[in-house]
Amino acid sequence: MSKLKVGVLGATGMVGQRFVTLLADHPWFEIAAVAASPRSAGKTYREAVTGRWTQPDVAVPQTASDLVVQNVREIDAIASQVDFVCCALDMEKEDIRPLEENYAKAETPVISNNSAHRWTPDVPMLLPEINPLHAEIIPAQRKRLRVQRGFIAVKPNCSIQPYVPALHALSEFGPSKASVCTYQAISGAGETFASWPEMMDNIIPYIGGEEEKSESEPHKIWGHIVKGEIVPTRKPVISAQCVRVPVTDGHMAAVSVSFDKKPKAEAILARWQNFKSDPRALGLPSSPKTFLAYLKGDDRPQTRLDRDAGNGMGITLGRLREDPIFHYKFIALSHNTVRGAAGGAVLMAELLTREGYI
Ligand SMILES: NC(=O)c1ccc[n+]([C@@H]2O[C@H](COP(=O)([O-])OP(=O)(O)OC[C@H]3O[C@@H](n4cnc5c(N)ncnc54)[C@H](OP(=O)(O)O)[C@@H]3O)[C@@H](O)[C@H]2O)c1
Repeated sequence: MSKLKVGVLGATGMVGQRFVTLLADHPWFEIAAVAASPRSAGKTYREAVTGRWTQPDVAVPQTASDLVVQNVREIDAIASQVDFVCCALDMEKEDIRPLEENYAKAETPVISNNSAHRWTPDVPMLLPEINPLHAEIIPAQRKRLRVQRGFIAVKPNCSIQPYVPALHALSEFGPSKASVCTYQAISGAGETFASWPEMMDNIIPYIGGEEEKSESEPHKIWGHIVKGEIVPTRKPVISAQCVRVPVTDGHMAAVSVSFDKKPKAEAILARWQNFKSDPRALGLPSSPKTFLAYLKGDDRPQTRLDRDAGNGMGITLGRLREDPIFHYKFIALSHNTVRGAAGGAVLMAELLTREGYI
């Protein structure tokens, strides 16, 4: 099979660079186009990222470095060069929404990191191990957009990636309410310590829009398709506090949770240890060998030690114990720019390719 050609929109940014790095040697996909704002358009990719390359220990991949950056608004030109696009643009939602829709209307599937379409009822928001069946909404979306091949599929917010899989594995006990505090890395804001020195020795107790996303997006992931729309669930009720902390990569979550029926701690550990991802998500090039791993040490998971589990695609859990207000509490961790952004989107593209949507 010849490789599918991918365009990376927002290729010069932090998540875009991660896309370019992950796609550089991909067995199914090859980068055919890179695009960004008019500020970068016309430069070679190497020139456009000089002085702002953020990927640790990796040089600008050869496969992308000589490509000329295009303006993302040249939709027809880019659509004619690729089989699908990955979107890592940081623009106003009002600009992104029609832009992504116009790519879909140009018969180009859009795999997006952006939040603009997360609440469009016929746009699937996929965590491949959990809700790959939501891809079945794509024909309804195509019908609305009057296209044959194009569609938009989105990734959920990076903040929910550590705790949604952990709670999903416990669904048979009926999680009823959860309190979550996230400790989020500065790369989640597209920043490094060089670009954001104020974050050194500091914590900022506010991330715009993040708490609302952290409380509501899990409900769409656990939702059901009804008459061409994904209808969100209401449970568990989630209360989130999202805090920016001085680490480069890795979002940690401290979670307290109650259930309809309180399980034994051993039963929770067994569900995590034996968790089986949806079979559609298994064996894809970016699937981690172990999706959920429970670490026994009292001081684990740790951001620096554990964020790269499963090449940054795994979720690590730890410190399960009784809670005096809720039933239990625990810690969860995931890599925000890999599982939480570009890696999760590439996995989604792989799933949608194997399922025949791309
Ligand atoms: N960082 C994370 O961990 C993370 C996780 C999940 C989701 N996300 C989401 O992913 C997206 C990208 O985040 P990021 O951290 O990579 O941002 P970033 O580093 O600021 O990169 C933004 C990208 O968007 C382009 N861009 C900005 N304004 C534009 C405009 N008006 N027209 C065309 N292109 C424009 C930039 O192009 P130029 O270089 O030419 O300016 C750049 O390629 C955001 O929606 C963010 O919320 C980020």
